[in-house]
Amino acid sequence: MAASDVQTGPSVISMINEDHRLFKQLWNEYNGPNMNGEMKQKLGWSLIRAIAMHSAAEEEVMYPEIRKRLGSEAADHLLGDDGHQAIKKLLFEANYMSVEKNGEATYTAKLSEAMKVLFHHIEDEETRTWPRFESLPGVDADLLSHLGMKFDAAKHHAVTRPHPWAPNKPPLNVLANTMTSPLDGALDMWRFGGNPPRYY
Ligand SMILES: [Fe+2]
Ligand SMILES: [Fe+2]
Repeated sequence: MAASDVQTGPSVISMINEDHRLFKQLWNEYNGPNMNGEMKQKLGWSLIRAIAMHSAAEEEVMYPEIRKRLGSEAADHLLGDDGHQAIKKLLFEANYMSVEKNGEATYTAKLSEAMKVLFHHIEDEETRTWPRFESLPGVDADLLSHLGMKFDAAKHHAVTRPHPWAPNKPPLNVLANTMTSPLDGALDMWRFGGNPPRYY
């Protein structure tokens, strides 16, 4: 935690960027040595879960602020076919594939496609959008910390699987996430043998 976070709580941007580092770490692990098909399958599922939750929380908390303060074009760019929508579609496809059914190479190729778009999107957020946002008048430590708390709360009712056709803007996304997450959670309990990874 940075010194400036002590009094106000962590900034939403540091929380988001921490998730981004987790995705990179999991993907490095996936491509690391001594990984068998079963281990890759579990990591693939873990990535899909963590990315779905992160995207849902960004769409509930951060992107509406981007829309309000930087304009619709900036928010729609992050949500669109270069960003969340493309990632969701690819991960949705990966979610219905498996190492066992499709083979390790095909499964990995689909995930790689999604991760490539994701890493480009992360760069977009971290190097272009966040610096522009943080330099706006009215965006101060209190606001960033307040958004951080909301981001954390949104993770608790976030979907844990990609839903490319679900609403991605408030207020409907909040309702859809809240209604869909129990079903995603039940499917994940089965997928992860009763012990889904917790990243929040
Ligand atoms: Fe994003
Ligand atoms: Fe992000």
